[in-house]
Amino acid sequence: MAHVFETTVLKGMALRNRFVHSATNEGMADPDDGCAGERLIRWQEQCAEGEIGLLIPGNAYVSNQGKSRPGQVGVQSDVTLPGLARMAEAVHRHGALVALQIAHAGANMYVPSETGYALGPSDMKLTELHCRAMTKDDIAQTVADFAAAAARAKKAGIDAVQLHGAHSYLISQFLSPHFNSRTDEYGGSLENRARFALEVLRAVRAAVGPDYPVLIKTNSDDYIDRGFSLDELVPYCLMLQDAGVDAIEISGGTHFSDPKYFCSRPEGTVPREQEIYFKEAAERYRREVKVPLILVGGVRTLGVAEHVVSSGLADYVAICRPLVREPNLIKRWHEGDTRRSTCISCNLCFGPVRSGEGIYCVALERQRQKGKA
Ligand SMILES: Cc1cc2nc3c(=O)[nH]c(=O)nc-3n(C[C@H](O)[C@H](O)[C@H](O)COP(=O)(O)O)c2cc1C
Repeated sequence: MAHVFETTVLKGMALRNRFVHSATNEGMADPDDGCAGERLIRWQEQCAEGEIGLLIPGNAYVSNQGKSRPGQVGVQSDVTLPGLARMAEAVHRHGALVALQIAHAGANMYVPSETGYALGPSDMKLTELHCRAMTKDDIAQTVADFAAAAARAKKAGIDAVQLHGAHSYLISQFLSPHFNSRTDEYGGSLENRARFALEVLRAVRAAVGPDYPVLIKTNSDDYIDRGFSLDELVPYCLMLQDAGVDAIEISGGTHFSDPKYFCSRPEGTVPREQEIYFKEAAERYRREVKVPLILVGGVRTLGVAEHVVSSGLADYVAICRPLVREPNLIKRWHEGDTRRSTCISCNLCFGPVRSGEGIYCVALERQRQKGKA
């Protein structure tokens, strides 16, 4: 039976436990060039000190055209290499490994665009910027940008990359009929909508070589009208498996879905008491897909985390918001203080990310100001 605190090897990465810090746009990087500075590095270091097994910073934009938010970390040019290298060293010093999430925002762009528009699978307008449908040349360039970004991460000493294929970022936009109305070989059938993801995956693999871990985070359901849906999850993941992905993280929802289904909306989430939001998706996945599974969404107790791995529901448990509030949560649990995470899933931590102020637990800060924490 698997245990959360046992060591494992994931595609050559020796991990000290089965806890993953799910990717988090920290909004702490240099607003102009995306470089990681001392503040962002210290943030990551704290999580490593807190005994996380695998830390996933970012998402990191692969090109200026793919940047989503101010303060987002970048891996778009060699100028980012020293900061990423220092981040990797800081994390390694405390026994954790680090996988950089690499991303293109597509139509989901909230920063000024050098071109004057966003680029996505189809013409649409999700933000202030008009999104123009990508040409075949745009697609080829973007695939090449992902590959170059992954090679850069590897050069910086980062242990793995994770493709951001969830939450209505570009790969997820291509996958979703809601955002993708193309009539060429990149639109229509699941095979066509998955083509972009698979091209990115193969190009990244070619750039980093056969032994470097390449992970992906995907939606299990967009929870949106005509979106990517649970019935397509297993066939899609089998395509990723055939293309050689090393681990898949299951998530769900988009920035434009019913708020009830996406963690990013303060006005409502999946009920707080319901841990493991994507349990049904994980069960379906496990019946057919062999690639190691990372499961994220709502885990707040050690007991549930233990159950996830001991029951075989997933190989790794990913956590995000509780670690924003309490970066040493895993260490605390490991040392025997197994009280529930004090995160209330209020989503207020999105505010300082969106403004470029840099992530912190807003609820905790308010409590502190009232002298209650
Ligand atoms: C402030 C914030 C930023 C996030 N940024 C990202 C991101 O850049 N990439 C990503 O895949 N998910 C991102 N997420 C989603 C989390 O990784 C995770 O999937 C979600 O919060 C559910 O896990 P949790 O219940 O443990 O928080 C973010 C979540 C929050 C709260």
